[in-house]
Amino acid sequence: MQPSEKPKHILESQQFTKENLYTLFQKANQLRTNPTNSLKNKIIATLFYEPSTRTRLSFESAMLKLGGNVIGTENAKEFSSAIKGESLEDSIRVLSKYADAIVIRHPETGAAKQASEVSTVPIINAGDGKGQHPTQALLDVYTIYREFNKIENLKITMVGDLASGRTVRSLCYLLGKFDNIEIIFVSPENLKMNQDIKDYLQRHNTQFREETNLNNILPQSDIIYMTRIQKERISLEDYEKAKGKYIIDSNNLQLIKPNARILHPLPHVEEIDLPIQTETQDPRIAYFRQAENGLYIRMALLDELMNN
Ligand code: CP
Repeated sequence: MQPSEKPKHILESQQFTKENLYTLFQKANQLRTNPTNSLKNKIIATLFYEPSTRTRLSFESAMLKLGGNVIGTENAKEFSSAIKGESLEDSIRVLSKYADAIVIRHPETGAAKQASEVSTVPIINAGDGKGQHPTQALLDVYTIYREFNKIENLKITMVGDLASGRTVRSLCYLLGKFDNIEIIFVSPENLKMNQDIKDYLQRHNTQFREETNLNNILPQSDIIYMTRIQKERISLEDYEKAKGKYIIDSNNLQLIKPNARILHPLPHVEEIDLPIQTETQDPRIAYFRQAENGLYIRMALLDELMNN
């Protein structure tokens, strides 16, 4: 790449258009059944300053399945030169000479953007604090598309820690692009969805409302998007107030429509309290398929980003 060329970064979900999304879905469907060696001789670096199972390993698997290579550190906070006091910018300046793209997860909101300002290769935001997790939102809408064959005319209930959950924020930004979506926010009083997202939905004429009684909403919902209370991002007092308030268990599962779907970005803890047989056999439980879809959508994204 010539120094004057600006790489394309993936920083926030609102940068995608509906057209981009459908193109990615098609590519993901193709690569699912027919993977290519399109990234042979390319390298991604995975630079994770926070823990991850799905995001890091699915990016790494995606790269390997496309014939590419991976370098990285799963605990950059301790195992990179950050521990010696190196700035994020210096780490990125150096890494962008070793890899063709950098996937970064960082505890601070805005860190991926900060990285993109000095990087000469594409930066992919794999989660920045309470900010965004755009590739999670891509796999979420891809899952909705695969499960419902549409992303319109759906009632989507988002449940849990909506104040510090970056996945629900990124998902709202994408859902705001589709027609006749209604979003219902159900959260503990101290962890409500932030005003910036409500303003965005209002600007995009997406209907939304806040409710407190989950069981009343379950029979009307097409999608129940459960989230974990983000213990690591809130005070112990806030955590204690919110913990265990909203749970899907065998009792209220009966209130959910037969053709509805339960999604979750995972990992889940006590907010899903179902026997493993139900989790693996009830077709309404879609979160393991959702995690699998992450692999194919990330293959499609890497292919598009590094081959164009
Ligand atoms: N959904 C998600 O980001 O999972 P990981 O934290 O395991 O990457």
